[in-house]
Amino acid sequence: MKKLVAVLAAGLSFAAVASVQAQTFPDRNITVVVPFAAGGPTDTVTRLVAEAMSKDLGQQVIVENVGGAGGTLGAGRVADADPDGYTLLLHHIGMATSATLYRKLSYDTLNAFDYIGLVTEVPMTLVARKDLEPTDLKSLVEYAKTNKDTVTVANAGIGAASHLCGMMFMSAIDTSLVTVPYKGTGPAMTDLLGGQVDIMCDQTTNTTSQIKSGKIKAYGVTSKTPVPSLPNLPVLANAGLPNFEVGVWHGLYAPKGTPKATVDTLSNALRAALRDPNVAKRFNDLGTEPSPTSQATPEALRTHLKQQIDLWGPIIKKAGAFAD
Ligand code: MLT
Repeated sequence: MKKLVAVLAAGLSFAAVASVQAQTFPDRNITVVVPFAAGGPTDTVTRLVAEAMSKDLGQQVIVENVGGAGGTLGAGRVADADPDGYTLLLHHIGMATSATLYRKLSYDTLNAFDYIGLVTEVPMTLVARKDLEPTDLKSLVEYAKTNKDTVTVANAGIGAASHLCGMMFMSAIDTSLVTVPYKGTGPAMTDLLGGQVDIMCDQTTNTTSQIKSGKIKAYGVTSKTPVPSLPNLPVLANAGLPNFEVGVWHGLYAPKGTPKATVDTLSNALRAALRDPNVAKRFNDLGTEPSPTSQATPEALRTHLKQQIDLWGPIIKKAGAFAD
């Protein structure tokens, strides 16, 4: 009997602690892990959202960059974190592609996280160092085929959006090029600007200002329609690369087991941040827009992640581009 009482007391105290924690959440800084190096597109999106969420939550939301292995190191860090709402992950389409690309992940993609909501979907741009000879997509494809043993393509590692887009480009032109991995497309952009690498497929959130300033060349966008902030860039799928479409959707996650009340508080703060006019303007200036409120929910993110794993899995398996 004593043991039963002890077990019941333990259960009640756990529930009581969880309830108190959820009622006082947040009472200290929150960390959002960006699974890529600072200065890249994921970092840019996260810092904008984190600043706006801080206003709603009344606590600082700080960003920690944990780059490496195409985003899977940072994702694994959060999967293993305490499920108390104080460590989150902001990751993109790589969350879905890595589930197939990596034969051994340290986490179960669909079951190691609780879901806060979708954040944004960012178009990609096919870009090059400014002195690369080709001036349009047709001549770029010819140049890449002719110089396939020397043309270098930057990416942020297997599982990154830039890796996925680069893989799609090489498949579309039926030519393997020399790939150069970085811990994020922030550092990759530094080398592109310096002429140390030739081409890259990267998100408008990282390329817009460089394209507009003429510091890099751009050949087109991966969206179905032109990007309003880059009106002169053709849609690649209509310019010679049929079906060359990819949108880099981003989601906000917490470790599995985070109290529902805490998840709800975070999800409400995310939706408030995405409704912030300053966030919408900054996103628009960078070629993207906030996810609608109806998509910035736990249910929408889980549904989208599952659908994306199912979509990209067969494509990746057919391409045979696995990471051991
Ligand atoms: C980054 O933030 O560095 C990029 O998202 C990396 C990538 O996915 O290409």
